[in-house]
Amino acid sequence: HDARLTIDPAFRVAPVRRRTFGAFVEHLGRCVYTGVYEPGHPSADEDGFRRDVLDLTRELGVSTVRYPGGNFVSGYRWEDGIGPKENRPRRLDLAWHSTETNEVGVDEFVRWCRKAEVEPMMALNLGTRGIAEALDLLEYCNHPSGTALSDLRVAHGAEEPHAIRMWCLGNEMDGPWQTGHKTALEYGRLAAETARAMRMVDPGLELVACGSSGSTMPTFGAWEATVLEETYDVVDLISCHAYYEEKDGDLGSFLACSTDMEYFIRSVVATADHVGARLKSRKRIDVSFDEWNVWYLSRFQAAEPPRDWPVAPPLLEDHYHLADAVALGGLLITLLRNSDRVTAASLAQLVNVIAPIMTEPGGRAWRQTTFHPFAQASRYAAGDVLRVEPVSPLYETAEYGEVPLLHAVATRSDDGVTIFAVNRATDGPLSLELDARGLRITSATTLTDPDVYARNTADDPDRVAPRPNENVEQDPMRVLLPPVSWNVIHLS
Ligand code: AHR
Repeated sequence: HDARLTIDPAFRVAPVRRRTFGAFVEHLGRCVYTGVYEPGHPSADEDGFRRDVLDLTRELGVSTVRYPGGNFVSGYRWEDGIGPKENRPRRLDLAWHSTETNEVGVDEFVRWCRKAEVEPMMALNLGTRGIAEALDLLEYCNHPSGTALSDLRVAHGAEEPHAIRMWCLGNEMDGPWQTGHKTALEYGRLAAETARAMRMVDPGLELVACGSSGSTMPTFGAWEATVLEETYDVVDLISCHAYYEEKDGDLGSFLACSTDMEYFIRSVVATADHVGARLKSRKRIDVSFDEWNVWYLSRFQAAEPPRDWPVAPPLLEDHYHLADAVALGGLLITLLRNSDRVTAASLAQLVNVIAPIMTEPGGRAWRQTTFHPFAQASRYAAGDVLRVEPVSPLYETAEYGEVPLLHAVATRSDDGVTIFAVNRATDGPLSLELDARGLRITSATTLTDPDVYARNTADDPDRVAPRPNENVEQDPMRVLLPPVSWNVIHLS
């Protein structure tokens, strides 16, 4: 197959948004306990945080971390997780049928964020709770001192305010599975009043209204319109959530799953702009794609839920293969291509639970295949996103019709241009010709494997990792992209 790409630095989409490279830590399975936090682990620091996971989080290049859920947050009482650990209550977590010990709460999370060098993004419980509890948490976290709740935080050892700027007004409130699930109007009203009250405390907060849990939700589109009609003036972003998996051995459709993400983003942006026009508002609502990933949800749904109420059971521990990493790379390319409107995103999740980082309790930590495209994009996407319009052969998919074999984006900074490209072809390499106005290829890597289902394990952690791509020509500039591959090409 042959494809072509022209790079023109004049065609700028938007700056690369660091918040595109966010992730997510939920009290779910082993994400928190034996994931980020495991006192007694050989690598645990003085706070009980695993240093090996902190190192990998930094290497992954995560910018923001959303917390504490997810479905979990819709039944969560934040006060359970503060103060002396021995006094913290154990509670039923209805979302994941587990017992929550509350050993980790907001103060520990923020401390972990500082060590991981990430920005915290806090989700509020608008399922079983409301405005008062949201205000309490805001005062506890962000008010300097001199009030009951801010002084309580200081008494718990956090003298400086947590200074959390980004807040999610609930989680997936459109989903019937959500504790306290609401109609769009019920949720829109509650989100608007919560946002208004929070802005009385701090007008500078960045607030995210819940959008749809997927583009196939029956209320998709209508939900966003109603919620934004209620909240337009008091929120900054609307969320999107999407998970993809290979179904019935249809690898071609799976590798093209970013087609759905593109449709999702365009639809939400159009809906937001339509509401803005109706309200005669010049304000623009952006997208926080604050849950996205490959997730074998159908396997999870087919499995028996835990019968008793275990503490930190292994849940949603998908072991990703090469094709999953290439699909994830395609999703990242789509997020970057839409950087004019997608200004924040969170890979769901960070550790153990559908995650790029895996750990053994008491043992090793390693990088899943999906770690690599994320880490490379976070590291090398810099400066501005450039609009590229690849000329590519098409292939037929059962889910999305005709889709290009090549999916790509480029960014440009003072260091040069970086191209991120996925070859979706399963039957052969793609010869990519580049027209880049006087630039030369300085390096190229590829993430691929003869077995598209190859995985990394604790015993073989580097089976799937980026390797130098030697199939590069300078005149004319050409790079051979292996079948089913994620590629990073630098030019300067
Ligand atoms: O990330 C796993 C779950 O997926 C989250 O808890 C929920 O928000 C979504 O349905």
